[in-house]
Amino acid sequence: MRRGAILQLVLLSAVIGAAVTAVAIFIGWLPEQASKERERIDFVFWFTTAICIAIFALVASVMLYCVWKFRARPDDDSDGAPIHGHTGLEIAWTAVPTILVTGIAIVSTVALAQNERPTGDPLRVEVTARQFAWSFKYPEHGDLTTTILRLPVDRSVELRIRALDVIHSFFVPEFGQKQDALTSGETKLIITPTKVGQYPIICSELCGLGHAFMRSRVEVLPPSAFAAWVAEQRRALGGSPEQAGKAVFTENGCGGCHTFEPAGTKAEVGPSLDELSAQARGADQPLEEFVRESIVEPDAYVEQGFSKELMPETYDQLPDEQLDALVQYLVRGSEGGR
Ligand code: CUA
Repeated sequence: MRRGAILQLVLLSAVIGAAVTAVAIFIGWLPEQASKERERIDFVFWFTTAICIAIFALVASVMLYCVWKFRARPDDDSDGAPIHGHTGLEIAWTAVPTILVTGIAIVSTVALAQNERPTGDPLRVEVTARQFAWSFKYPEHGDLTTTILRLPVDRSVELRIRALDVIHSFFVPEFGQKQDALTSGETKLIITPTKVGQYPIICSELCGLGHAFMRSRVEVLPPSAFAAWVAEQRRALGGSPEQAGKAVFTENGCGGCHTFEPAGTKAEVGPSLDELSAQARGADQPLEEFVRESIVEPDAYVEQGFSKELMPETYDQLPDEQLDALVQYLVRGSEGGR
């Protein structure tokens, strides 16, 4: 009789466990896996999930079994037998969870500690967050500055993250980690991309009206393609003023919002840069001064028909050389098209 009950319980929990496992495994709950660190975090996730499934199957099967087996028959108004607890059971349901939770704590601690250590010599990238844009600077590559994060695959990267106004948070779901960007000091994040591809960069800390739009992307490239991109940018920055200016314009996403004929861009989120001369006259400023101020302090003068705080203020982070190149490029381009 007792053996039969245990067998029924075991069967019932096996069925429930199998069903829940199928739900866990066959539905794609997680984003694509694209970094070493993410692999470790996923291991912790599945380790914890396996424990949860086992406990759920056990509890659910005992519950269903009892509801079915000990239900009141019609017209049975008698009380249940008086019970005074069970010391053995109480010890078991205190000890087992303690062991499991300790296990999860140990596994997580090891994973997090490993995730804080880069393998080999990491590539350093300075990340600046500001309402509502990201900017990335490569100190090892002549302070090359971009708004799209490009990384070589299979090399650890050390992101040094900071914010200039309020708290933001750097998050690439495929990399599996978040790190706050603070105004009080630098935070660090180690990432070792394992898969070539493009992934979204998301701000995951409510930081103001434009929070939902504070997005960029990371492009993980084969090492040769990354080296080629760096070489090309540096060649352009060291080349003719035209090449340098265009490289800064392109890398910093200016064309995503502005029309500018010399660069062949046609976006209309912000004012057309082909009209800079007229706009400078409207602002009553010399052209070059006007262009520079509009880049580093976009809200100082806002063209009619456009609202304040639309243009991110991250561009004052551009190294002087790149800012000069950009200013000259815009001044020349708009003088040509006056
Ligand atoms: Cu920056 Cu949310």
